[in-house]
Amino acid sequence: MNFIGIDVGTSSVKALLVDESGVVIKKATPEYDFSTPKSLWAEANPSDWWEATQNAIKTLLGNMDSSQIGGIGLTGQMHGMVALDQGGNVLRPCIMWNDQRSHVECNEITNRIGREKILEITGNPVLPGFTAPKILWTQKNEPEVFSAIKKILLPKDYIRFKLTGEFFSDVSDASGTSLLDIEKRSWAKEIFQAMEWPLSWMPEVTESTEPSSKISQEAAQLTGLQAGTPVVGGGGDCAAQAVGSGIVEEGKISVTLGTSGVVFAQSDSYKVEPNGKLHAFCHAVPGKWHLMGVMLSAAGSFQWYKNEFGQDEQRIEDGGGPNAYELLTDGASEIKAGSEGLFFLPYLSGERTPHPDPYAKGCFIGMSLRHTKKHLTRSVLEGVSYGLNDSLSLMKGLGINPNETILTGGGAQSVLWKQMLADIFSTECSLVNAVEGAAYGAAILASVGVGGYSSVPEACNSWIQKTESINPGPEQDIYRKYYPVFQSLYQSLKAQFSEISKISS
Ligand code: XUL
Repeated sequence: MNFIGIDVGTSSVKALLVDESGVVIKKATPEYDFSTPKSLWAEANPSDWWEATQNAIKTLLGNMDSSQIGGIGLTGQMHGMVALDQGGNVLRPCIMWNDQRSHVECNEITNRIGREKILEITGNPVLPGFTAPKILWTQKNEPEVFSAIKKILLPKDYIRFKLTGEFFSDVSDASGTSLLDIEKRSWAKEIFQAMEWPLSWMPEVTESTEPSSKISQEAAQLTGLQAGTPVVGGGGDCAAQAVGSGIVEEGKISVTLGTSGVVFAQSDSYKVEPNGKLHAFCHAVPGKWHLMGVMLSAAGSFQWYKNEFGQDEQRIEDGGGPNAYELLTDGASEIKAGSEGLFFLPYLSGERTPHPDPYAKGCFIGMSLRHTKKHLTRSVLEGVSYGLNDSLSLMKGLGINPNETILTGGGAQSVLWKQMLADIFSTECSLVNAVEGAAYGAAILASVGVGGYSSVPEACNSWIQKTESINPGPEQDIYRKYYPVFQSLYQSLKAQFSEISKISS
């Protein structure tokens, strides 16, 4: 029996065909664009995702007998609003997770329900990325669209609708709407009442492993799948990514160094950071929760740095030499830990955790004549690592103590960066063999959902193995002295960041 995991991402669908022992047999990643029609806006055409999904499935199946597909797991970008009319037609482009237009609407919802209450019910403050403020924005700005709404779906659940003709979501993805009661794992009726929105708009929510729907005849004809193939609940991309790297027990934490950085911890009980600084969501593991810190520019900071200051290294790479990132990190590894007092604040596109501040800025601080480009490079890697440690520190404050920290994402390939993370976190860090991320997690959920394993941890133990462990070294003592300075820098500059934004806009 084989399984398919499909991740409906921001700029591509990533689909994996995985066998029953967890080996990836084939993958397909057709790409698409999203648009930014106005400043702060980010929109996508759900029909692009559907077309890419059909192509990806056809590529995976090739000539194989599709009765060999035991189940399908869906995951995808969270928070987006796909609004459908009575006939299941998309009413307007999806307002995506990275769309920031609904700042005012966040305040309106918070005032209507009360800050404490919203935090208690939904585990999070209402943020512009989340779904509810997008619905309110549509109500105020596009009344003709609003009055035609019959269903509101998250991106992967729109693809489920196209594949099965049915309306379902799962608790982990639904957690990012500001409309779910996170403790009860069901839609928060009091929020719908307060907003005067009908609950009938929402799909039924299930646990992530539940085989909630089946491939329809119509989708079978379009994709080559067999009608009746089960599709499990699936998960939001962060939860599915965590499942795909084995973060399915309390005490395990993952740190993902992608363009953005995610620190993710499972929690066996519902816990909320009192100031709402960490996201508190349902996990894709039935009956469990998770806490998550999201840093907006993690490996993205290093990419920006390489593009702006690494032209020489890039020329060497382009001429057939070593990779530009490697050349930069080789230079940085000649510099002592702490970059001789040079700090980098990684807030290049504002920040989410621990400073939910769209005006926060990136900076180099502490520069002297001694400092060289190699120091600058090292300080960028250190600044991102300190920023991730901020999320980890908030988790430790809630009693989540990591006994295992798994590093994932492109940045975790760097020898220097992974040692630095172990030193700054002051904890052993490991890498695992599973590197395909959320789509792999979705395939795991599918295999559990159709009875291949009795639980998500059992499947993860069978499919995922540790490949490397890194112990903190002597440099942790230096970082322990510098970290509090890093933490104080944002507080000292917060007012100036906001002033700079006012003048420069
Ligand atoms: C999670 C988040 C992103 C999106 C897009 O809160 O905003 O991870 O899901 O990947």
